[in-house]
Amino acid sequence: MPRILAIESTCDETAAAVVDDGVHVRSNVIATQFELHAKYRGVVPEIASRAHIENILPVIDEALQKSACGFADLDAIAIAHRPGLIGSLLIGVTAAKTLAWSTGKPLIGVDHVHAHLYSVVLDKGIQPEFPAVGLVCSGGHTALYQVNTWSDVTLIGSTIDDAVGEAYDKVAAILGLGYPGGPIIDRLAQQGDPKSIHFPRSMLGRGSLDFSFSGLKTAVLYHVRGVPGKDEHPAPPNEQHIADICASFQAACIDVLIKKIRRAMETFNAKSVIIGGGVSANRGLRAALSKFEVPVYFPELQYCTDNAAMSAGLAHIYFERNEFSPLDLDAITYSQFRP
Ligand code: KG4
Ligand code: ZN
Repeated sequence: MPRILAIESTCDETAAAVVDDGVHVRSNVIATQFELHAKYRGVVPEIASRAHIENILPVIDEALQKSACGFADLDAIAIAHRPGLIGSLLIGVTAAKTLAWSTGKPLIGVDHVHAHLYSVVLDKGIQPEFPAVGLVCSGGHTALYQVNTWSDVTLIGSTIDDAVGEAYDKVAAILGLGYPGGPIIDRLAQQGDPKSIHFPRSMLGRGSLDFSFSGLKTAVLYHVRGVPGKDEHPAPPNEQHIADICASFQAACIDVLIKKIRRAMETFNAKSVIIGGGVSANRGLRAALSKFEVPVYFPELQYCTDNAAMSAGLAHIYFERNEFSPLDLDAITYSQFRP
């Protein structure tokens, strides 16, 4: 029964978790830096790195305590070493390498975005039907994958500008709704009419599996603030109008995500769909995907946003294959194919 401690520090959450067998989460500790970044309406990399330094050892300690184990009970140390902010990644990677070296346990580097896909397995132990189409949609990523097995994951499309979560956050900022915007827009969208405003759906050509959300974001900006040189300074939207904008924006996002997933499913004859990342918590997206004719797997809500349990889970797959990382493992800012 492999027991793996994983560390996560790719962006603005410092997290550590202990997971047995790639499924059973014994502990899942997350120190969020939410308040530090809220006033900037986005993550400030230098502030994130400094907070990781302060948080990382207490978070690892707490994860071990809550799991009721010590280093001697672990079989490996896992680290999400790509992709992410370089300063943030370096803190976690250094901590993981130091722990692996000093305890003599093997080190396993995993891709953070692949780990988001694996998060559907946590607690449930489900085995998706492969090949699957995977979609990771978060504040930093909107990426489509062909998933043949958990260790054979190929990127087939990604955003050429904003990530979908980033578009949610920016639209929330335009509407003065607060940060992070996703959960707020998701809630307000329930009270609005999704057909009231037609926002653009960027499909990027017939066969494209890539995404673009910056045009949609600009369309919302022009709708709220007026088109420059034309109808500038329209009346500020009232409560119902804001709900309608949220519902119509959300409908446009979901439409695009669903169409691209369908396109990928047809291309790769997918037998199931796997969704991960912060936006996978979205109620509208979950409702739309529940109508699919193949099984669609979502993570439990606590595993949608950044966490270390998903990395510990994915690392279990590599552990079983005896695929370990060298102690000079690098922090890498971009996603890449494994190996
Ligand atoms: O996965 P995550 O914690 O961070 C990244 O790796 O980027 O995702 C955070 C993103 C934020 O942009 C947030 O607005 C969005 O996920 N989000 C949502 C919802 N909950 C969080 N977006 C839409 N609907 C939600 N319910
Ligand atoms: Zn993430």
